Amino acid sequence: MNILILGSGGREHAIAWKVEQSPKVKNIFVAPGNAGTRNVGTNIPVDLDDFNSIKMIVVEKDIDMVIVGPEAPLVDGIYDFFLNDKILKDIAIIGPSKEGSKLEGSKSFAKDFMAKYNIPTAAYNSFNSSNLEEGYSFIDSLDAPYVLKADGLAAGKGVLIINDPDEAKHELNLMISERKFGDASSNVVIEEFLDGIELSVFVLTDGSNYVILPEAKDYKRIGEADTGLNTGGMGSISPVPFVNKELMKKIDDQIIAPTVAGLASEGIDYKGFIFFGLINVGGEPKVIEYNCRMGDPEAESVIPRIVTDLVELFEATANGTLSKSTIEFDPRSAAAIMLVSGGYPETYEKGKKISGLDNVNNCIVFHAGTAIDIENNSVKTSGGRVIAVTAFGDDMKSALEMSYANVDLISFDGKYARKDIGFDLYEYE
Ligand code: AMP
Ligand code: GLY
Repeated sequence: MNILILGSGGREHAIAWKVEQSPKVKNIFVAPGNAGTRNVGTNIPVDLDDFNSIKMIVVEKDIDMVIVGPEAPLVDGIYDFFLNDKILKDIAIIGPSKEGSKLEGSKSFAKDFMAKYNIPTAAYNSFNSSNLEEGYSFIDSLDAPYVLKADGLAAGKGVLIINDPDEAKHELNLMISERKFGDASSNVVIEEFLDGIELSVFVLTDGSNYVILPEAKDYKRIGEADTGLNTGGMGSISPVPFVNKELMKKIDDQIIAPTVAGLASEGIDYKGFIFFGLINVGGEPKVIEYNCRMGDPEAESVIPRIVTDLVELFEATANGTLSKSTIEFDPRSAAAIMLVSGGYPETYEKGKKISGLDNVNNCIVFHAGTAIDIENNSVKTSGGRVIAVTAFGDDMKSALEMSYANVDLISFDGKYARKDIGFDLYEYE
């Protein structure tokens, strides 16, 4: 098979790395890819919102399967574009339809869906310019802190958690009336604050059956002890030590099964990943958010733990035969540590030479914001999140030690990594 992977981050490198191990695969293309994906396949530059150019790649390279990494092309309807195109309609595409992608693309769609199918989540209401005053009253009816979420995609920045009710009202007005997050905040979901520890659970579904992937925990804040600004994710751990069979059964029975059944009963075409962003509130799992794709940097610890041929799972996803599939995991722990550019998630410089990539041992280096420096035949930084270093261990602590030992061997100007990934999980090991 010839496979095209869309995206350019650590998640896409991890998918390409795993796909390459399948005996079913002939050629791998990554569009646009990064300096790391060049080692597993062929990079092809493309804008992911340019579906016609993607079509040309599929035709020219005789692609059999397309795996969509990030959410934007899914929310924009790439699945439907393929389905409605005479030439593309039989190509397997891993990722949900535009309607299914609303689980991520519209917070109010996701909240209404959860309410309809009795899926545990925070109490909420949706507001826009026609009922702004009701939003102020809703804030008064809740206890602090207040959680305000822009309805649409806002590059991970659209969630505000505010302690003061007057400030919450002020921000609500800015979001709706002043379009603080552009059109994404013309609708705002206000919800109850949930106090607990977060985890990420993933499934691959063909729309009626599913397999559950290894769970993970990611670390979103830039600063140690979960302080400072939100980022795309600074590291991940899989498995999550506090997740036992009992909690996973609750997650499956109360969240995963009703979500997949709900999608099916709505007639929504969904063949791809569902990412459940969960919070464990005193042993009771609740949904914080859905995403219509794998997580990043969760993919960098989860995918290396999948022993089963991922291409076979993708084929079953596309063909609707996942009920016949089983998935085997590596029981060891995996830790992924993200190296980022100094200044990230605010402004940072690009183009810094990366050295030490050949010195690493007993780890997997997944590239994210990297590019080839053609003049110097070297690898340089080209983004905020630069590289994820993933290592295995018999337990979380040894996985982290091995990963951090390798993190120290890679250098570039301004390199920063959190030193405390996993810090909140030691008590559960
Ligand atoms: P989201 O974009 O929905 O994942 O929200 C971003 C982050 O805000 C989450 O990862 C949580 O840390 C936090 N968050 C979102 N909703 C809530 C909530 N209802 N209660 C507590 N924290 C929340
Ligand atoms: N790591 C969180 C995300 O991928 O959205």
